Formats: sequence, structure tokens, C-alpha cells
Amino acid sequence: MDKLIIEGGVPLHGEVVVSGAKNAALPILCAALLAETPLTLTGVPELRDVSSTLTLLDTMGVKVVKEDDRVILDASDVASFEATYEMVKTMRASILVLGPLLARFGTARVSLPGGCAIGSRPVDLHIKGLQAMGAAMHITHGYIQASTLHLPNRRLQGAKYYMDLVTVTGTENLMMAAALAQGTTVLENAAKEPEVVDLAECLNKMGAKISGAGTDTITIEGVERLTGAEHHIVCDRIEAGTYMVAAAMTGGEVTLKNARADLLEAVIEKLREAGAQVSNDADSITVKSNGQLKAINIRTAPHPAFPTDMQAQFMAMNTVADGVSTVVETIFENRFMHVQELQRMGANIEIQGNTALVKGVPALEGASVMATDLRASAGLVLAGLVADGETVIDRIYHLDRGYERLEEKLNRLGAKVRRSN
Ligand code: UD1
Repeated sequence: MDKLIIEGGVPLHGEVVVSGAKNAALPILCAALLAETPLTLTGVPELRDVSSTLTLLDTMGVKVVKEDDRVILDASDVASFEATYEMVKTMRASILVLGPLLARFGTARVSLPGGCAIGSRPVDLHIKGLQAMGAAMHITHGYIQASTLHLPNRRLQGAKYYMDLVTVTGTENLMMAAALAQGTTVLENAAKEPEVVDLAECLNKMGAKISGAGTDTITIEGVERLTGAEHHIVCDRIEAGTYMVAAAMTGGEVTLKNARADLLEAVIEKLREAGAQVSNDADSITVKSNGQLKAINIRTAPHPAFPTDMQAQFMAMNTVADGVSTVVETIFENRFMHVQELQRMGANIEIQGNTALVKGVPALEGASVMATDLRASAGLVLAGLVADGETVIDRIYHLDRGYERLEEKLNRLGAKVRRSN
């Protein structure tokens, strides 16, 4: 199994180009299922979750042509309407085929995701939302079996649906389904994440009539058919945020190209509070720091508040910052898997329920640690970049799910990172 070996202590300097967002690419790739003609996407990041999604779409009969960051998906001849347990257990986002399959073909069979490292993560709101649109939803043998065959014209029916919790993929699944429904759907308490907005923009280019994406009420006027279009995936704010923290922690100066400060307001505010200097123009962000950072309190919440996907990285930063901080995780119940590993590197962290109390220490020590999920792994990489000596991170396949060419990008900034197996 691949490992990442990091020699800590080098301030990062230079420029790095941010990739297309994983969390926008995954739903948009699944949206190809809705279109009768080919969808062309650019800015698609080279990631394990992207290749898993392409494999899933391929098993359904979608023709996929991929060249660098450009992917053409032709779903004119879909023959299978299923996402198996084998697929869904490796990537929860496979649930995103449920809405498109059901809306276009009137039938779908998708495995229930089950647990994952960061908590139970149910999909009940995806199911209830589709039920509100009239779908027959049955859970049998661990699979969601969905059908619209009893409905007029076999089409989902527009509905008003209030989501009890803000759910990103839930909002995306329901938005995709509603795009082809008969009548108007109103999704209330919808997720406002930039990736939801990017999906809505792509769907509108495909002929959908969606308004309000980016606010908590999204209105979708159903249309009879959707066609292909061309769309460029929005930049990855979490990848950008991770390199911004790397610059701040190592006491360097890094400019991120293809990065949008307007999508990272809460993160930028916290970096400034910690003492880093952040400046930006329309599509780049520069972070500069002398490495002397203050501990800052963090509380995760849905966008535009501080993202849970940046929690582990800021926790790593707080471990070496001056002072005591609290990190409160409100989205996922078990997203402190990185804490034990950071403790192995000398961090002083105490967990009480969903709050971590972090007391900054003068320095971390390199150690062998284990990646447990995608963003926890990113936190460990950041810790490794400032630790004394060598840090060996095992199970880095988690990082390959979400960070394109991580070690290449870091090394270009001066870091000493290598992969070994
Ligand atoms: C998405 C992101 C993930 C990010 C998360 C929160 C993708 C592919 N992944 O995950 O990187 O960490 O948003 O910003 O975009 N919930 C329910 N019932 C449901 C759905 C969700 O109870 O039907 C709960 C979850 O367990 C969690 C909370 O709602 O506690 C938010 O989860 P959700 O926004 O759905 O996360 P994902 O869409 O899976």
C-alpha cells in the first residue's frame, strides 16, 4: 500500500494551480445520465473518486471519452439502472445516480451506502424527497429500489419538499430528479454550497429551469428532456483551502491560481484571525505568513459557514499555534479520526463529545501515522510539513480520492514529499 513520506520544516513558496472541484465533478458526471445527447466537461480533476464514477457510468452503458481534464459522456444508450454495493461502498457519492436514473428511466436500483469512517451518514432525505415527488421507494436486501412506473407518463411529479437537515448530495440528487419531473419542485432548506450552484448552472445549460441555487430555496420547473452541453467544473475550494493552510503553517508565501476567494470567505477570515496575510484577485489567492500563528476557534456548519471539509486541516494548524482553541464539529458525529494520529506526533488535544480542545505545542514530531479518511489525511500531511523529522503517512489511497497530484504540487512549492510502496 502506498505511503507518503514527508520531511518537515520547509516553508512553502511559489504558485500552485487548483484543480476542478471533486464535489462538483461527481454530481455533474452523474447528471450526464439525464441528457439524451453528449455532455462535455472540462476541468475534471484526475482523482480516484472521478475514475470510480466513470467506471460506474460505464457499467450502465454511458459511453465515456476522457482526454486529460476533458470528459465527454454520452448517455443516449443506457442499459442498466443499477449501482451495486461494491460500487457504493467504495464511494458514497454513487448515490448521486439515483435521482437521474429515476427521473429519466423511471427505475433505479442503488445500494444503501452503510457506515463510513466519519459517521453513519444516512440517505433518508434523498429517499423522502423522491417519495414526495411520487416515486415508489422500497428498501430490500440493502438496496433502494425506486420506480415511477405508476405515475402519469411515468414521470416524477413536482412537489414542495422541506429538508430537515441541510444535505449537499441530497439537494443535488433531488435537483437532478426534479429537472425532468412534471411540474414545479421547490426544495426548502437546500444546501447552498458552491458545488450545488455549479451543478445547477450545468443543468441549466442542458435545458433545465432551475432558479435559487446558492440560496436555501431552489425552484425547479420540470422539463420533458435535457440535452448535452459544455461545462467547466468550478475550482476546488477545499483543495485551495488546504494549500492556504500549508502556506500559513510553514511560514511561506503561496499563490493559488484558479482559486476563488468568494467561495472561501469563512476560511480566509479564520486564516487572518490566526495571523496570516491573505490577498486575492478575481481568480487567485495569495497567503503569506511568518509561521507564528495564533490558535483560533472553529465551528463547522453548512456553507457559507466554516466547512467541515476544512476542519482537520485547521485542527492541524491549531496544534502548533500559540494558545488554546476549540474545534466544534456539527456536521458529522465521528469526524475526529485524525486526533489520535496528531497525538502520536505530539499534539495536545482532548475530545469532549463533538468538541476538541487543542493546546498549541511549540513543535510536532515526525511519526508513522495512518490516514483514515480524505480530509483527516490532509490534516496529517499539513502536520507532517511542519513536524521535526520524518512523517510517514500510511493508507494514502484516501488522499488520492480527493487531491490531484498532491506530492507533485507540494514539491513544486519546495516541500520534501515522496511516495513509496
Ligand atoms: C457532502 C460532501 C462532503 C462534505 C459534506 C458536508 C460530496 C460528494 N460530499 O457530503 O465532502 O463533507 O457534504 O459538507 O459533495 N444526512 C442525513 N440524511 C440524509 C443526508 C444527510 O441525516 O439523507 C446528514 C448526514 O449524516 C450529515 C449531514 O446530514 O450529518 C450532512 O450531510 P450531507 O451534506 O448529506 O453530506 P454529503 O452530501 O454526503
